[in-house]
Amino acid sequence: MTQLPGSWRRTAAAARLLGADGEVAPTIFAEMSALAASTGALNLGQGFPDEDGPAEVLEAARAAISDGRNQYPPGRGEPELLEAISEHQKRFYGIDVDPSTEVIVTAGATEALTATLLALLDGPGDEVVVFEPFYDAYAAAVGLAGARLVPVRLPWPGFQPDLDALERAVTDRTRVILVNDPHNPTGAVFSLDVREKIVELAHRHDAIVVTDEVYEHLSLDGPHVPIATMPGAAERTVSISSGGKTFRTTGWKIGWLTAPADLVTAVLTVKQYLTYSNGAPFQPAIARGLRLPDTFFAGIADEMRAKRDLLGSGLAAAGFTVSRPSGSYFTVADAAPLGADDAAELCRTLPERVGVVAVPLSAFVTAEHSDEYRSLVRFAACKRPEILDEAVSRLAELNR
Ligand SMILES: Cc1ncc(COP(=O)(O)O)c(C=O)c1O
Repeated sequence: MTQLPGSWRRTAAAARLLGADGEVAPTIFAEMSALAASTGALNLGQGFPDEDGPAEVLEAARAAISDGRNQYPPGRGEPELLEAISEHQKRFYGIDVDPSTEVIVTAGATEALTATLLALLDGPGDEVVVFEPFYDAYAAAVGLAGARLVPVRLPWPGFQPDLDALERAVTDRTRVILVNDPHNPTGAVFSLDVREKIVELAHRHDAIVVTDEVYEHLSLDGPHVPIATMPGAAERTVSISSGGKTFRTTGWKIGWLTAPADLVTAVLTVKQYLTYSNGAPFQPAIARGLRLPDTFFAGIADEMRAKRDLLGSGLAAAGFTVSRPSGSYFTVADAAPLGADDAAELCRTLPERVGVVAVPLSAFVTAEHSDEYRSLVRFAACKRPEILDEAVSRLAELNR
């Protein structure tokens, strides 16, 4: 734990991210990855792949560095990447996006989310409806914007929201409905009913839908359907994605968003003072990736489906009750059948006991609801099959 210097502690935005004791807590993922490194445990905690992505994409980055593409790219992004994103939206979803006014390249999906929320939210009267459990950066970005988070629970094991609860959560104070589909940490893909309800409520209450689709090419039980393709949605939707998950380049932090031009302008105003621009040689490389043939995209989904099945059956054999994810990198499992009611405690001791790192679902929920998710653990399936095999056989020791 690091103590913030006194003057920093007084800034409102930083204070909102501090714990009650005034200390900066490392994220659970950083803590768990550090534990994996110090114990040599298999890291099924943090969601990053343990293999490199496609050779063409890596080679394109090397070539861009050799060709001297090492200075600031344009603030909106390299034109060739803006074009490639626009082509990608048309090719996979039939969405028309003007590359010069309706796209921006960002420092990962994280910057796209933060810049969007800072641009759209105007202090304590504004509310953001999120689906809980949620990716941890959401609460931080809403906190930085000084707005209020309104969680709608995704109940185990199907992780689909109750439509009445969703309807009650969205009001005229709702500025943003923040969607993540496919979903981290649960692996859920929202049903058509849920997507339709989100769009209907956004219209009724004049809210903007911000949708985080970083796992768009890891939809495992059917094609990905972006919210922006739903009738009446495109005009009020900011769609966010990233090259990190699709091309196994999470460290490059090349993300983007597409939205109507006026929303893009609002977000760009904030984004230009966050990073201005990033990742010059990686931008043409991700453009290369987005133009890879369909076989590449089908191949990564096939591979992830096989890993999901391997991990899921291994966890079940080890004594967990397992939910079946329809997308993303992740599988959630209930440790209660193993006598472990407190997943946070289990995850703290797992590296020492059996040499595996995983993350408790309570890391993704607000304190009010953490009891409901208390015995649930998130495992990342984006690892080599032999690592997944070894991890589940180690986890089986918990049952002996
Ligand atoms: C749901 C979700 N959104 C955003 C991100 C971050 O994306 P990026 O690395 O492109 O900033 C992640 C990474 O794990 C994620 O799971």
